[in-house]
Amino acid sequence: INEGYGVKGVSELNLKTIPELFIQPVNRRLDTTKVLPDELIPVIDMSNCEDPNVIKSICEAAEKWGFYHIVNHGVPLSVMEGVKDATHKFFELSSDEKKKYLSRNSPTKNVRLLTSFNPDVDQAYEWKDHLSCFYVSDEEALEFWPSICKHQVLEYLKTCDLVVKTLLKLLIKGLGIPTLHEINEPFLMGSKRINLNYYPVCPNPELSIGASGHSDVSTLTVLLQDETGGLYVRKFGSDSWVHVPPIMGSFTINIGDALQIMSNGRYKSVEHKVVANRYENRISVPIFVNPRGSDIIGPLPEVINNGEKALYKQVLYSDYVKHFFRKSTNGKDTVDYAK
Ligand code: SIN
Ligand code: FE2
Repeated sequence: INEGYGVKGVSELNLKTIPELFIQPVNRRLDTTKVLPDELIPVIDMSNCEDPNVIKSICEAAEKWGFYHIVNHGVPLSVMEGVKDATHKFFELSSDEKKKYLSRNSPTKNVRLLTSFNPDVDQAYEWKDHLSCFYVSDEEALEFWPSICKHQVLEYLKTCDLVVKTLLKLLIKGLGIPTLHEINEPFLMGSKRINLNYYPVCPNPELSIGASGHSDVSTLTVLLQDETGGLYVRKFGSDSWVHVPPIMGSFTINIGDALQIMSNGRYKSVEHKVVANRYENRISVPIFVNPRGSDIIGPLPEVINNGEKALYKQVLYSDYVKHFFRKSTNGKDTVDYAK
């Protein structure tokens, strides 16, 4: 695992059962008796974003579910397919090639290849390899990101900017703030991270977990998933789970902790987890849209001014993120750091 083979290498051994290291305690697996089969997260058509009904559905979905699909968002299918293709190409590289991106070898801390979320502290490993790239500049990306995928990944990242901005504008409007620049755009979308996730075929999806329950630390996350499925979100305020089925050409959008904090709890950053698949290798590509590390985040004054009690304190965003990456994921507990 630590030599560039990753969990993909383990999967390719065709073992009948997963190694002990990947067997999760029961509370970290998916409890299939708690899955609500008939519930669906909203699907929102973005072809006319000026339409008050579209704004309303986006804000309501962020309040009620924290998760929704968007369709007709303007990002060409070819760009989406390009980044999926690039993800497969990266993970199909030899272990010697991939090894170059392990934390200990990567020439920059902004690019790292990992198995599990935090292999240094995770008690049982997640059944997932991922390449995580923090975007600094095009120059830096072209120099350090893997050549096999960097062009498609960068193109994808840039093409998504417009839809990100539109979504944030509408969400901010829903909080009674008329334009984005009134609260300074970089405060909401001043930094970005993109992950290429690879969940190899797993002989025991029921004993393992692809990604254990967590909420994202972003303002919002734009997720591209392939046709395999396996992402489950907690239905807000319950102990039930809802599957997020893949929809060709759509993005799955979720609210992250930073926006939950800024909106003083109005928009929900909900817990989600991924179950590995017995038959298919699954890939997904999330873009995490974040404040800048140097930003101090807290409930927005515009939200608090209407007399609401602040549910969160002000925190330096880089401290919040450090706290997240220091530990194993454990449901929604990161946000306690801001209480
Ligand atoms: C994640 O939220 O960690 C990954 C989501 C996915 O792979 O669908
Ligand atoms: Fe996530």
